Amino acid sequence: MVKKTLFPLLAAWTLSFASPLVAADKNIPEVDKELFPYAPSLIKWDKSEAEFTEPQTCGECHPDQYEEWTNSVHALAFQDPVYQGELNAAIKAVGHDIARQCEGCHTPAAMVQGEIKGAGLKGLSPLAKAGVSCDVCHSISGHQHWQTPYHQPENGSFILSPGRTDEKGTTLTKYTPFSPAEGCGEGFHECVESPLHLSSELCAGCHQVFHYETHTPLEATYMEWKNGPYAVNNIHCQDCHMVEIDTFKRSADDFSRPQRDEYHHYFNGANFLLYYLAEAAANKIGDAELAANAHKKFEMAVARLQAAAELEVTPIYRQDKLAEIKVRVKNIRAGHNLPTSLTNVRQMWLEVTARDAEGKILMTSGTVDAKGTIAKDVRMFNSEGQHEGLHFAIDPWEVQSFAKHDTIPPKGYKDVFYGLAAAKGAPITFEARLRYRQADQKVAEKLLGLVPDDIHLDAVYGLKEIPILPIIDMATTSVTINN
Ligand code: HEC
Ligand code: HEC
Ligand code: HEC
Ligand code: HEC
Ligand code: HEC
Repeated sequence: MVKKTLFPLLAAWTLSFASPLVAADKNIPEVDKELFPYAPSLIKWDKSEAEFTEPQTCGECHPDQYEEWTNSVHALAFQDPVYQGELNAAIKAVGHDIARQCEGCHTPAAMVQGEIKGAGLKGLSPLAKAGVSCDVCHSISGHQHWQTPYHQPENGSFILSPGRTDEKGTTLTKYTPFSPAEGCGEGFHECVESPLHLSSELCAGCHQVFHYETHTPLEATYMEWKNGPYAVNNIHCQDCHMVEIDTFKRSADDFSRPQRDEYHHYFNGANFLLYYLAEAAANKIGDAELAANAHKKFEMAVARLQAAAELEVTPIYRQDKLAEIKVRVKNIRAGHNLPTSLTNVRQMWLEVTARDAEGKILMTSGTVDAKGTIAKDVRMFNSEGQHEGLHFAIDPWEVQSFAKHDTIPPKGYKDVFYGLAAAKGAPITFEARLRYRQADQKVAEKLLGLVPDDIHLDAVYGLKEIPILPIIDMATTSVTINN
């Protein structure tokens, strides 16, 4: 294979991003494999005799962090059945060389060591199954993002340096946000101070996902944060996602950073479905403590979603008559757009109902039927991906542009208007709910239907069939309007 320089690559990536509606250029040059040996994942591994350590070992000396991390979305990032279903599909569609991009974020240490050969968990080491484990984050010594198209972190553009070998032998190195105390690591590892660990840049390499070939931004949580009010006020991902719910609210409301002892390894976000599955799996093996651990995280994700947004309802009159109702959806506490990340898969929508004094429904929108299907007239805050033929697409190797992006920026809002002509004089009750679920029912059924054979949904999770996905009400309001 002819080695190409990075410059034509940058030009091609930038070009395809600047005109997202143009179909992908099949002649995009190869990535410089010396700079990015795991491309399309942009990880660099500072290889030495030092090995990666499995989390169970770290946990022997750091039991609190281990318990908090257990059942976190990071701990589950590789075993996640929704991920495994999609990984399986990715490998079939584009081959394993390209699917390495996925593994670079979902189980980086095992990916660089070449352990992952395909979808499924059979025969894998505890380190591989541990996904985004202790030794991933605490071996990150820096970034190589000056070499990426935007000069920003993305697609795993961090450097893994689990240790070093010199004339004295091999030493494990762990990067810590603090200036290390004497004897830090008890001889098991040395400690090196890393300001990166207090900043969103640590998270950015994985929370900024681009298409492997066309460089379309697929998940842009880091850039949304960086261009918003929290970055300006020095509030980072850790300040909301590594603390208790009350502390996160304070970070968001007052722009004040938590105290040192307030941080915990929860990495809790919105994915209550994954905790729900983790709890089911723990119950299936009869481990009540593990189930309780997952349940706590489920409740935390629900509480976070319920703290993120606010609704405001305002009647609009024309010629003295009620004409419309305005619902303002405010992103009050998400540090990025609401929703963020997989915005072409996640669903956040408004359900509204207007009733007259007798309770008769005058108007409704966004209702869900018993099969989990949302009515077509819904106002959904999401994005719609499309592949090169401009057809609707959700798979990350297919999405090359977006037909729409309709999410709510941090501390911003969006207004939705509902036409409502009612008889004058009669009061109206108007109810609005902001609802959230991980995916469309059919999409979830499809992905969970693709899990590799060794993750048997009944054996592992006790699922005989794919259930109707749970929905969380993030905010609700009801007002009586005198008309
Ligand atoms: C044999 C026990 C032992 C093992 C195993 C161990 N550590 Fe440590 N580590 C310590 C001790 C002791 C400290 C000093 C501070 C403390 O007590 O937390 C420390 C400190 C740290 C710090 C810095 C905390 C600070 O206060 O600055 C980090 C980060 C860390 N360890 C991560 C890890 C990771 C990741 C692993 C697994 C790869 C690991 N440790 C395995 C004993 C251990
Ligand atoms: C740059 C890092 C990165 C890469 C590359 C990446 N992902 Fe992810 N993936 C993430 C992050 C971060 C999330 C969490 C987003 C969220 O929950 O909102 C995620 C979430 C997912 C989910 C949703 C899981 C759930 O439980 O709902 C699936 C499925 C998934 N990824 C599949 C893939 C596949 C398949 C690939 C490769 C084609 C891939 N990812 C590549 C970072 C990455
Ligand atoms: C997603 C990245 C990530 C993972 C995974 C992770 N850590 Fe950390 N860790 C951090 C960050 C960020 C901090 C700094 C938090 C702060 O500001 O105090 C930290 C802090 C620490 C500290 C210092 C004391 C404290 O709790 O603040 C120790 C010890 C530690 N981690 C150990 C671990 C162990 C053990 C695991 C696995 C069970 C682990 N970490 C997994 C990112 C991570
Ligand atoms: C090595 C890659 C990597 C790093 C570094 C990383 N993450 Fe993640 N993170 C992921 C992946 C992959 C997922 C999604 C896993 C899944 O859903 O299967 C995820 C999920 C999450 C979620 C849960 C999202 C949800 O829908 O509930 C939060 C919150 C999160 N990460 C925060 C952080 C923070 C804060 C940091 C930095 C301290 C960080 N991450 C660093 C890869 C990473
Ligand atoms: C001011 C607090 C705050 C900050 C700062 C913040 N987040 Fe969040 N995050 C939230 C809230 C609230 C939610 C739940 C609502 C939602 O889904 O957006 C959330 C959700 C998420 C999710 C799940 C997204 C979804 O909708 O499924 C991911 C992934 C995530 N955050 C990652 C990050 C990363 C990475 C950073 C830093 C670049 C960050 N967050 C900074 C508050 C914050």
